[in-house]
Amino acid sequence: MFSLKITNVTKKFKSPSGKEFTAVDNVSLEIEPGKIYGLLGPNGAGKSTIINMISGILLPTSGTIEVLGHDVAKETEITKQMIGIVPQEIVVEMAFTVEEVLYYFSGMYGVPTHERKERILAILKDLDLEDKIHERARTLSGGMKRRLMLAKALLHKPKFLILDEPTAGVDVSLRQKIWSLVRRLNAEGTTILFTTHYLEEAEQLCESITLINHGQVVKTGKLKDIQQEFSKNMIHFELFDRNVAHLPGTTEIGVEYEFPIVDLTEDMAKLTKHYHGNIKGIRSEAASLEQVFLKLTQP
Ligand SMILES: Nc1ncnc2c1ncn2[C@@H]1O[C@H](COP(=O)(O)OP(=O)(O)O)[C@@H](O)[C@H]1O
Ligand SMILES: [Mg+2]
Repeated sequence: MFSLKITNVTKKFKSPSGKEFTAVDNVSLEIEPGKIYGLLGPNGAGKSTIINMISGILLPTSGTIEVLGHDVAKETEITKQMIGIVPQEIVVEMAFTVEEVLYYFSGMYGVPTHERKERILAILKDLDLEDKIHERARTLSGGMKRRLMLAKALLHKPKFLILDEPTAGVDVSLRQKIWSLVRRLNAEGTTILFTTHYLEEAEQLCESITLINHGQVVKTGKLKDIQQEFSKNMIHFELFDRNVAHLPGTTEIGVEYEFPIVDLTEDMAKLTKHYHGNIKGIRSEAASLEQVFLKLTQP
């Protein structure tokens, strides 16, 4: 059974003028239990819309979403209890203290009364917030509010944790803290789905990702494989004299030229023979993932 199985999900929004906009376009993806999985894409790609459909806040226009074998649309109450979710926007109950907020939510999630205090304390300690337990939520800094939201999501010890841009706008030290918490929760058996537009975050945390752009899946698989697929097959070179007949298959990219590789040795030989003294520089180094992603998400 998958922790998450999204099958052909589409979400269309209607603008006030009645015009339809497809925010999520026929997306499918599966997450196996025990994984940390990254949902990547630039701003506006449709990540939060997907997350909101998994959490049951939004209904798909078509397609199905299953969490641990339960259909989110049909068994929303069950799936809600299984998921811990940290939304992208900071929402905390400003007028209440940290303890009151967490006490209230542990009740909502059905944590037995006699366990609540202890669990709240343990989570606050984990998140370095224990000295804020009696502070009102509105007096917390942005980073602390984010940690409070994490605490809320962890109260019922969910098997599946979803983090929507958990480190957007947080400082380096909190980012590291969140990453190590994610790793630890995962080591303890929690499946984790997070969204990000930072590639580095995906590289730090997970093996496999789905990259979306304009609501569509552009690429899905292991980061390593994606990088390999895109890096091994191009030679880049610069010429002194650009005004020459080019080898068929050569593309101009800025000041450089790009030539597809089938066999590195043979193709290097072909290239040097064709351009001989005209080659100013040549490289076949692996493209960085950053370059791959930019290429895949170009407008
Ligand atoms: N409730 C809504 N009504 C209309 N359009 C929406 C709504 N929510 C999101 N969108 C649009 O859907 C697209 C995807 O948004 P979102 O899922 O928030 O992207 P991401 O989280 O990847 O930045 C955007 O163009 C956004 O403006
Ligand atoms: Mg978003």
